[in-house]
Amino acid sequence: MLGFTVAIDGPAAAGKGTVGRAVAAHFGFAHLDTGLLYRAVGAKVLEGMTAEEAALTLQADDLENDQLRTNAVAEAASRAAAIPAVRAALVDFQHSFAMRAGGAVLDGRDIGTVICPDAPVKLFITATPEVRAQRRFAELSAKGAEVTLEGVLADVQARDARDSTRAEAPLKPAEDAELMDTSTMDIETAVARAIELVAARRRD
Ligand code: DC
Repeated sequence: MLGFTVAIDGPAAAGKGTVGRAVAAHFGFAHLDTGLLYRAVGAKVLEGMTAEEAALTLQADDLENDQLRTNAVAEAASRAAAIPAVRAALVDFQHSFAMRAGGAVLDGRDIGTVICPDAPVKLFITATPEVRAQRRFAELSAKGAEVTLEGVLADVQARDARDSTRAEAPLKPAEDAELMDTSTMDIETAVARAIELVAARRRD
């Protein structure tokens, strides 16, 4: 299935990654969490590089860094992601990934709107900020991070606001995206629904 792409967008901690991984595993597609690209750029900015230079010199290994999941890196990623030259430098890698034989799932903020506007399946996965903050708080606390629920909620809201209001490729659903609100839907239901949609489009 050359270039069959599943585009998944939505705000932080809405369940995109979980749904994306499950869909990819079910169909044998490759999966790219595009947030990692911006996080890898953010991590280099925290080390002193300019965001543009970091994006232009990004290597596949940079995505393996296990320090990419911190709040500081997420914040730096969101800031870097508002710079058009940074986004432009990351387009080719995402296009090549999307076009690989055997199918691909990409999740991020602008996959259905900018990176893969012709994807046969587009999902926009969301949940209330409170539900997303609670999930992220549980995840970070389990890893031993010293965070408070209020602090995580404030970070989630600040990042959503920046990601949704930037001029270039803002976070928003594509017109033809299927909306899923995981504040009221459990993750198994979201995964099952996503698999159903992909299966239906593959038969078309
Ligand atoms: O999905 P994430 O939380 O790991 O993403 C980190 C930041 O990267 C996010 O706040 C916005 C940016 N991002 C983006 O602008 N476009 C994408 N396709 C993916 C992430």
